[in-house]
Amino acid sequence: MHLKSLLSLLFLQIGFGLAFHQHIKRGGETNATLSAYGTNSTNWPIAYGLLYIAEYPSNSNANLTPLTWDLASITGECWIANATFVNGTRAGSMYIMPENEYAVGVLPITRIAYLNGTVSGFALFASQLVYNNNTFLEAQFWAKSTSFTGVYGLTWTLDDSAPSGDFPVVVKATENS
Ligand SMILES: *[C@@H]1O[C@H](CO)[C@@H](O)[C@H](O)[C@H]1NC(C)=O
Ligand SMILES: *[C@@H]1O[C@H](CO)[C@@H](O)[C@H](O)[C@H]1NC(C)=O
Ligand SMILES: *[C@@H]1O[C@H](CO)[C@@H](O)[C@H](O)[C@H]1NC(C)=O
Ligand SMILES: *[C@@H]1O[C@H](CO)[C@@H](O)[C@H](O)[C@H]1NC(C)=O
Ligand SMILES: *[C@@H]1O[C@H](CO)[C@@H](O)[C@H](O)[C@H]1NC(C)=O
Ligand SMILES: *[C@@H]1O[C@H](CO)[C@@H](O)[C@H](O)[C@H]1NC(C)=O
Repeated sequence: MHLKSLLSLLFLQIGFGLAFHQHIKRGGETNATLSAYGTNSTNWPIAYGLLYIAEYPSNSNANLTPLTWDLASITGECWIANATFVNGTRAGSMYIMPENEYAVGVLPITRIAYLNGTVSGFALFASQLVYNNNTFLEAQFWAKSTSFTGVYGLTWTLDDSAPSGDFPVVVKATENS
């Protein structure tokens, strides 16, 4: 785990004004809602399809379905973020899809990328979702507009100078009780 990226995440959180208000959790979260915070999406939940940031995540006109998530902490060994539909059926695990313009989606299998004995994947840094690429912790989520008002595709950006979306978002988890 790289100190520099941890620090930049901290600054990112301070930048969003959340660091001082937030109880820093050490553990993972189960049955949590993931929401995106950015210019045009304030606390909009992440819904299923590929993954969409939607003001109304159950909007069936836009073919959206809400999800809940089981998420581990970066302090653990598990980097598989699992999604479940409201009816309790497992939806799959979160993946970045290079073959689909780096859309972030859910695949109905729990596959994990092994890179020389260590793993890459998604976990929580406090309540913020981050990606471990086996060297760095990164949080390069962007929102990409769709043909539906109030619905953005969740995408991953490799290079902020050539973003794959319209505006950056911070993805945070809130545990449902
Ligand atoms: C935000 O939404 C407004 C109104 O829909 C739109 O005009 C603007 O271009 C959007 N901004 C970004 C960064 O997507
Ligand atoms: C996600 O599912 C896999 C396979 O069942 C499991 O090994 C892993 O622990 C789960 N992740 C979390 C955060 O519960
Ligand atoms: C649960 O909901 C999902 C998404 O709407 C659907 O695809 C699946 O078939 C449902 N499963 C059951 C057992 O009803
Ligand atoms: C795995 O390790 C080998 C030998 O150390 C190295 O050549 C290779 O680039 C590594 N692969 C990855 C994906 O890091
Ligand atoms: C992780 O990301 C960094 C920065 O983008 C890159 O330099 C590094 O090669 C990546 N490592 C792996 C294993 O993909
Ligand atoms: C998960 O949260 C939902 C509310 O979003 C609640 O209705 C449901 O009972 C919870 N499930 C579990 C297993 O805690």
